[in-house]
Amino acid sequence: MAYCPNGAVWNASATIGRRVDGQGSAKARQRDGHELPVAAPSGASAILGGASVLRAADLDVGRARERRRQRRLARLAMVLWVATLAVWWRVLSGGSLNPLDGLSLGPEAMLWLPAVLLILVIGVVMLLPMVGQGRSPHLLYRPEQIDVGLDDVKGLGPLRDEVVKTLNLFLGYATFRDRLGGNPRRGILFEGKPGTGKTHMAKAMARHAGVPFLFVSATSFQSMWYGMTARKIRAYFKALRKVASQEGGAIGFIEEIDAIGGRRGGLEGGGDGPVSPGTGGTVNELLVQLQSFDTPPFGERTAGRLIEWVNGWLPAHAQVSKRPPRYNNILVIAATNRADGLDPALLRPGRFDRRLYFDLPNAVGRRELIDYFLAGKSHDRELDDDTMRAELAHLTFGYTPVMIEHLLDESLIWALRAGRDGMRWVDISQAKLSEEIGLKQPVAYTPLEKEMVATHEAGHAVAAYLSGVGRRLEVLSIVKRKDALGLLAHNDTEERWTRTRTELLAFLRIACAGMAAEELWFGESTTGPGGDLVSATGIAAQMVGALGMADSLVSFVAMEEGLNQRNVVAKVLSDPDGRARTDRLLKEAKMAVKEQLDLHRPLVEALRDALLDREELIGDEILEVLRQAEAVLAGPVPVRNAPSLLANRPAPPRELADRGRDG
Ligand SMILES: Nc1ncnc2c1ncn2[C@@H]1O[C@H](COP(=O)(O)OP(=O)(O)OP(=O)(O)O)[C@@H](O)[C@H]1O
Ligand SMILES: [Mg+2]
Repeated sequence: MAYCPNGAVWNASATIGRRVDGQGSAKARQRDGHELPVAAPSGASAILGGASVLRAADLDVGRARERRRQRRLARLAMVLWVATLAVWWRVLSGGSLNPLDGLSLGPEAMLWLPAVLLILVIGVVMLLPMVGQGRSPHLLYRPEQIDVGLDDVKGLGPLRDEVVKTLNLFLGYATFRDRLGGNPRRGILFEGKPGTGKTHMAKAMARHAGVPFLFVSATSFQSMWYGMTARKIRAYFKALRKVASQEGGAIGFIEEIDAIGGRRGGLEGGGDGPVSPGTGGTVNELLVQLQSFDTPPFGERTAGRLIEWVNGWLPAHAQVSKRPPRYNNILVIAATNRADGLDPALLRPGRFDRRLYFDLPNAVGRRELIDYFLAGKSHDRELDDDTMRAELAHLTFGYTPVMIEHLLDESLIWALRAGRDGMRWVDISQAKLSEEIGLKQPVAYTPLEKEMVATHEAGHAVAAYLSGVGRRLEVLSIVKRKDALGLLAHNDTEERWTRTRTELLAFLRIACAGMAAEELWFGESTTGPGGDLVSATGIAAQMVGALGMADSLVSFVAMEEGLNQRNVVAKVLSDPDGRARTDRLLKEAKMAVKEQLDLHRPLVEALRDALLDREELIGDEILEVLRQAEAVLAGPVPVRNAPSLLANRPAPPRELADRGRDG
């Protein structure tokens, strides 16, 4: 006997297991212990589980479509046969071939015909909007209308294989269902950040599946008329069933399903508490429709009722048997940015039971995407260089595929503005800066203000150079962008997913360095460090209350609160002890970096002067200034933190793994 983890006995059905014996023939074991032979699944696993997409025409979907086509041809032949007979009969009996021959409206038609036509027009005008209201709002695409294939889906790694396997199961549904006894997947949920390729992937799937694709945006189900939203949902699923039965299969795609599938109030996990947000009715309809794929069409239902009526008059041995329910091969894909907000009933097995998470692409994925996008965009030969592309893949850490595509489009615009036909590295750098930080808004600083901003930014850069092991200095600027008067952008030299305590302490020092530099050179600080303190406090509070890095292992993340949802920073700062620890971390970081900058004044001054002169230093330009200043010093820079230990550390919250920027 098998037990679920919660102790409940597993459901026992009539057939309790299948096994394949030594000779490869499959047996289904019944509850009474007898074994019945079933069709051998020879080669099925090789077909359905393969990593390449199967051809729809060779599979169950193709066979179902062919059967349907032959039935349609037979019906057409029958109709033509009857029409030909009717024409022959008219010809032989000497009658006219015009069916309207002899039809006349009479001489008074001019009196009543306009009134009848007017009433008809008014009736149509009034009824038409109501007829349209209950219609399914989908758009139907045939495979040949879709210009995206699976070869155009890049950088998703194992996710693509998973999708191909799902597609193969869809195409070979009859093999999986009838020969292997499985229940094919009928719903998958794509979740992920905007622009990670969910819609793109669904289109590619539809093209390869070779079946119609019914695209619908969940918001288009919504209607101001009572009950109309549910009616539109019903109409959509009805259209899916119809197309699937005609074409051997259909793929439905519901974009942004959270618009109609939000968690109902009062269910486990909260939602909106006892107050329903108003999606209850539509969620219920969605739940019902997701189980309605095998509902027979209207004609079959009517025939079934007729048979039941006839059977009421017939003796038991002469009963007319009804047609068994037909399996409609339908796959519904839903996409959302927020799967956690969906109603749990939607995610149970049998509905959207497979969740595929579209994550941000890693370095290999970004490189694939860059190669793919650059192949279609005009660029200078320097961008074909392997190291340059690897560098770009590195610099686009945290980018979604659509962001990478957009960055290259923007770079092309920068190139055009500079009078070139193809983009170059410098265009990509400019586009990246203006996308990430904002366009330059040069302002006239007073000389003292300019010197203060330059000293502040130079302080950040020197701290990052000395403390930030494994950091690459990307941009140092005193040009105003958005609300930042200046900035230092620094990034990891390698792709990283975790942080050590040493590195977080270095982040604190880098953040406090602007303030320390102002105090060292001007005796007091300005309003400039305000933004730095926000990010530094965030990091320090995480170290105290979430990461066990400040002499306490208590996690404030584990603390659940009633109605007041607060982030970990708020939780830590509202606790007197947490606040004291956070403050201590910040003060220690500031003291340490102040000492460090004091020891390396020539470095800060060299960078400050370079900034006053050039306003913006990019990449190696920053290092050049620092190295020249170092060379003037007696020897190599003495104080550098010990290299961080990078092995097997727990993952920190994602926001700590993001790139740094200090204003
Ligand atoms: N894996 C990919 N390979 C190639 N191009 C991609 C990929 N992912 C996204 N793109 C590009 O990005 C564009 C936007 O992607 P898509 O519409 O699929 O995002 P999405 O995840 O559906 O976003 P949203 O959640 O906002 O609907 C696509 O039209 C395509 O050009
Ligand atoms: Mg989308």
